[in-house]
Amino acid sequence: MELFFEIKDVHVQFDTSKEIVKALNGFSLNVYRGDLIGIVGESGSGKSVAVSSVINLLRPPGRIVSGDVLYKGKSVYNMSKVELERFRGGVISVIPAGARSMLHPMLAVGRQIANVYQAHNPQVSAKEAMEKVVEILELVQIPDPHRRIKALPGEFSGGMAQRVLIAMALVNTPELVIADDATTGLDVTVQAQVLDLIQDRVKKLGSAAILFTHDLGIVAQYCRKVGIMFAGRIIEYCDSVDGLLRAAAHPYTRTLLSGTPGVPIPYEPEVNAAATSRQAISEKGCLAQERCLRCQPVCRAETPDFKEIMPGHFAQCHFAGRDGAI
Ligand SMILES: Nc1ncnc2c1ncn2[C@@H]1O[C@H](COP(=O)(O)OP(=O)(O)O)[C@@H](O)[C@H]1O
Ligand code: SF4
Ligand SMILES: [Mg+2]
Repeated sequence: MELFFEIKDVHVQFDTSKEIVKALNGFSLNVYRGDLIGIVGESGSGKSVAVSSVINLLRPPGRIVSGDVLYKGKSVYNMSKVELERFRGGVISVIPAGARSMLHPMLAVGRQIANVYQAHNPQVSAKEAMEKVVEILELVQIPDPHRRIKALPGEFSGGMAQRVLIAMALVNTPELVIADDATTGLDVTVQAQVLDLIQDRVKKLGSAAILFTHDLGIVAQYCRKVGIMFAGRIIEYCDSVDGLLRAAAHPYTRTLLSGTPGVPIPYEPEVNAAATSRQAISEKGCLAQERCLRCQPVCRAETPDFKEIMPGHFAQCHFAGRDGAI
């Protein structure tokens, strides 16, 4: 499969008047066509900042300090304004959380989707655009789309409004769809419909999707590959979800799994629960050192490598893959 997105060691910080918040600390991920990758992270771990950084839409005081995002070898950070407009919504699109606040309250739903479509297809007529909108609303299972296109977002339930956002994200047939906690707050049936749809599109179109979520259950059910995010980077990654569940190697991942029902191996907590969502990031050593119960002097002195402990399975801990070494 073709490697078409490379997110390389992205560091992001927020320079606020009070403090410098290091939100991404070496976020890296390779995306191949056909991939459905789940990135699991607790609140404040940097999921939304990672999403904004990938599409080069980080707002001040957020700042990309270093790193790069490559699409077919071309840097997203060196794209011109015109190239970026074509890229966002055309090549890559994001399904955000909180549907209602993302939609214009006074503009008919159909018009809002048509605007996104026409921005990328300026040659189509208004009538053709509306036909496309009806087609995409049918795809996301909005009943009676011919009538619904004229409705305002306020007339839609939360689940339907979220499906409208998904329609907007899919209308230009992007090569990569990124969902940023996009199913939070939806009831389980709607959530399953939405995730089935994303999964189906990846299979049919040979595109790719990344689901950023706090919900490991979703990832276990829908994704093939999985990354665990902690303090602004992926600290464990496995190209099979089952492989990760059976042989989690990072103390943070093992802690996460210790509280998750249905995991095949009994794990114990090895990392303290976060005191706040924002954790102190040490200049040197392991990102987890302040919370890890297994922390040793070497963890404070040296940053562990993100090493391949088994084929396709990586972890960033000095002791990963060395059972009984601590
Ligand atoms: N505008 C901002 N100013 C300062 N810090 C921010 C801002 N936006 C995000 N952050 C910080 O960046 C970190 C990651 O946030 P975010 O990506 O929203 O987390 P998640 O989406 O995983 O819940 C958090 O520590 C958060 O406080
Ligand atoms: S390197 Fe040390 S502090 Fe970091 S996760 Fe491993 S044991 Fe814990
Ligand atoms: Mg978020």
